[in-house]
Amino acid sequence: MSTADSQLSQTLAALGITSAEQVRSVFADLRAHFDTDASAAKDEESWKALRDAWLGRKSGVFTMVTDNWLKPATPELKRAVGAALNELRGHVDAQIAARRGEVETAAATAAAKEPVDLSLPGVIRPSGTHHLIRQVFQEIEDIFFSIGFSVVEGPEIETPYYNFEALNIPEFHPVRDDMDTFYLNLPTGARGPLLLRTHTSPVQIHTMEKRKPPVRVIVPGKVYRRDNPDATHSFMFHQIEGLAVDSDITFCDFTGTIDYFVKQFFGESVKTRFRPSYFPFTEPSVEFDASCVFCGGSGTAKSGGICSKCKGSGWIELFGAGMVDPAVYGFVNYDPKKVSGFAFGIGIDRLAMLKYGIDDIQVFFQNDVRFLRQFP
Ligand code: FA5
Repeated sequence: MSTADSQLSQTLAALGITSAEQVRSVFADLRAHFDTDASAAKDEESWKALRDAWLGRKSGVFTMVTDNWLKPATPELKRAVGAALNELRGHVDAQIAARRGEVETAAATAAAKEPVDLSLPGVIRPSGTHHLIRQVFQEIEDIFFSIGFSVVEGPEIETPYYNFEALNIPEFHPVRDDMDTFYLNLPTGARGPLLLRTHTSPVQIHTMEKRKPPVRVIVPGKVYRRDNPDATHSFMFHQIEGLAVDSDITFCDFTGTIDYFVKQFFGESVKTRFRPSYFPFTEPSVEFDASCVFCGGSGTAKSGGICSKCKGSGWIELFGAGMVDPAVYGFVNYDPKKVSGFAFGIGIDRLAMLKYGIDDIQVFFQNDVRFLRQFP
């Protein structure tokens, strides 16, 4: 097509074409070129090349003819060029469509002739699995299902009221510093402010607003804090909240439930203890510890020396919990004289790290299949 190429890049005037007769002749040459090209298009690849060379929008033959021959043609020649161009286009379109049918039929016939080798291995389609965090959620949910809890979910975007105030954390309370978070940029006039929840505890409020006691729920979900990433901190992580409220729930029910959960999750040999702590929405508040799963609670690493995971103490802090503070019941119209209950908030990522011996929280979020494949 090199002669045609050079012709196509020039105007008809530059080619010395001044009469309708010459126009018809130059188009006849072009059609002959096309027929030669088309007869060589015998498979899918060459058919596509033919189609693109002639019909391609950017530099296909028809684009060049339109730009270089038709548009700049003198008014006397324009009609003849237009007519010849239409005629050629009809021919090319029909031929390209017909060629495609032939190419497809030839490919199907060739495939049918090929013998099928039934001994070839099948196609392996790798199927995905649940992320380790999702698996741990599932393990914990199953344990709590078995003792009568159900799952509820809540919004990740919250108002300060649900995230703080209704949990007995008024504005300017120092505990808000530990839960610094991300606020949303809202359009002017929108009702706000809105923030990414710092814990799953706001769902305690949503649940109690909707249900009357007895309540026994767990709340799995993502939470966010303005924490700098390191081996044990992420700005997005996962928690499971637990809430049980009824007419006669005691501190013993609370410790018994937590002890049952920890033993189911880590194994019967694990010991538990709780220490006094502080959360504005529980009273009394505790931190729950489990005996170190790495050194068996001895504080000494298996290889000798101090256990690096519990720093020799034999205990690992698991999560915060407590009896629901009566002030919280005031926000949800429960009568604190008639009901009592407990709540807990478990950091799932750190729990998974403990159980599966993972020493950096960041690996959960890096999507490295070498890590993910270890937990099929
Ligand atoms: C809370 O978030 C309370 N809402 C828990 C609670 C619920 C107490 C109900 C009482 C009653 P805390 O801020 O300690 O508490 O966080 C709970 C857990 O989240 C921690 O024990 C830890 O495992 C995990 N956690 C906290 N910050 C991060 C972080 N930046 N990255 C990963 N895990 C974190």
